[in-house]
Amino acid sequence: MRMRNKYRKSTTLRCNAGSRCSLPVLVWTLVGFLLMLHLYTLISQNSIPNKDIRNGISQNPLLRELEEVEEENLQMPPPRKRSPRAAKRKPKKATTLIDEFLDESSQIRHIFFPSIKMAVDPMKDAGNDSLYYYPGRIWLDTEGNPIQAHGGGILYDERSGTYYWYGEYKDGPTYHAHKKGAARVDVIGVGCYSSKDLWTWKNEGIVLAAEEENETHDLHKSNVLERPKVIYNDNTKKYVMWMHIDDTNYTKASIGVAISDSPTGPFDYLYSKRPHGFDSRDMTIFKDDDGVAYLIYSSEDNSELHVGPLDRDYLNVTPVVRRILVGQHREAPALFKHDGTYYMITSGCTGWAPNEALAHAAESIMGPWETMGNPCIGGNKIFRQTTFFAQSTFVLPLPGFKGSFIFMADRWNPADLRDSRYVWLPMTVGGAADQPFDYSFGFPLWSRVSIYWHKRWRLPGRGSG
Ligand SMILES: *[C@@H]1O[C@H](CO)[C@@H](O)[C@H](O)[C@H]1NC(C)=O
Ligand SMILES: *[C@@H]1O[C@H](CO)[C@@H](O)[C@H](O)[C@H]1NC(C)=O
Ligand SMILES: *[C@@H]1O[C@H](CO)[C@@H](O)[C@H](O)[C@H]1NC(C)=O
Repeated sequence: MRMRNKYRKSTTLRCNAGSRCSLPVLVWTLVGFLLMLHLYTLISQNSIPNKDIRNGISQNPLLRELEEVEEENLQMPPPRKRSPRAAKRKPKKATTLIDEFLDESSQIRHIFFPSIKMAVDPMKDAGNDSLYYYPGRIWLDTEGNPIQAHGGGILYDERSGTYYWYGEYKDGPTYHAHKKGAARVDVIGVGCYSSKDLWTWKNEGIVLAAEEENETHDLHKSNVLERPKVIYNDNTKKYVMWMHIDDTNYTKASIGVAISDSPTGPFDYLYSKRPHGFDSRDMTIFKDDDGVAYLIYSSEDNSELHVGPLDRDYLNVTPVVRRILVGQHREAPALFKHDGTYYMITSGCTGWAPNEALAHAAESIMGPWETMGNPCIGGNKIFRQTTFFAQSTFVLPLPGFKGSFIFMADRWNPADLRDSRYVWLPMTVGGAADQPFDYSFGFPLWSRVSIYWHKRWRLPGRGSG
């Protein structure tokens, strides 16, 4: 339909210009155009990621440093000796870096989970390390305790000029509820930390606490509370928290809602439900520029995502819902918006094990959403295939740096979930997308989303460099 319209348009143009309308000329023009388009595609594909560095949004010299590709030379450790008996029982399987990552006794564990000695401690006079993020290291709060805000998200409270980081407080023992159950920590509650600089975090306590006694309560410690996110409702002046509520076996698959008058709680738990009648596991909420907020959740056994607007008070969904990324099996959605386009980072579904992130884009938040490919740049191949051994949880826009964001992810430690780490990395939107899936007259509609690996980095414009 679309092609035919274009064809007609160009015919009219040529006739109006006075030349004869000849079909061969038209056909050759079209062929030429298609060749140009193909060439353009090849060029834009081959020049990733270098093109990004030159032509991305990095007109700002402060951002250029963050867009440099930093390689990792990570080697597999030499194979360990196996007793002849063990070798007989289990034929030798090639181990991968992911196996090493998941193996508590791996010789290279310190690379993925650096010890407490390497912790980032903003309260110490860190000298040249001040304000630097070290993805994967233990990160201490202002009292010297490891930050407990897993699967989290950040609210910027305009009224106080303060950032609030909410997440799962998991400072308890990891165990399996039964043989086939996933590793878990009993629900303790939602932790909240406040900061003005996004580096020094003060523990504001548990703002929504688990139920110790009442076994039928959603928040009973034996249940599951994951991925809490908070947004502010301008109509009701309430802080509204949405979260994934489940039972030990993940069969409840519901969302939970809580509200508070203050960003530091306490939050009153309201209820749980299956949104639109569907199972809902990993989820997030997104507040758009016009004040309308949306719920995005993995559904139909994680095979697709659903998106729908919340009501005016953000306390419930409305009947409007769309299925997106159908059959793609994505979870851990993190949404953001840039230049009127909606973007989303998701992970695959492999439990606590890391997997490849994908970036998606849409002109309308309700879809259709298109998948653009893996946003990760740098590290090495396995780093990029595992989202730097982490899973997306949130994207925070960097104020003052249009097109720049902090990509927030969790490096889960299934052997000891409380010791899961945070991987924060700079993310930019700019340059052509690698996968030319949708063209509007030869030009891709979407910009590339790029997450840059760095061992150490800090926000642009901070400190003397
Ligand atoms: C900070 O960096 C400067 C120059 O690179 C160096 O001379 C100095 O020793 C460093 N200070 C600390 C505390 O690391
Ligand atoms: C336990 O929780 C349920 C569900 O929230 C509630 O209906 C019930 O009243 C609670 N029981 C007690 C003793 O608080
Ligand atoms: C969870 O599943 C296990 C094994 O399938 C079962 O033994 C257990 O009773 C289930 N627990 C709940 C709370 O449904």
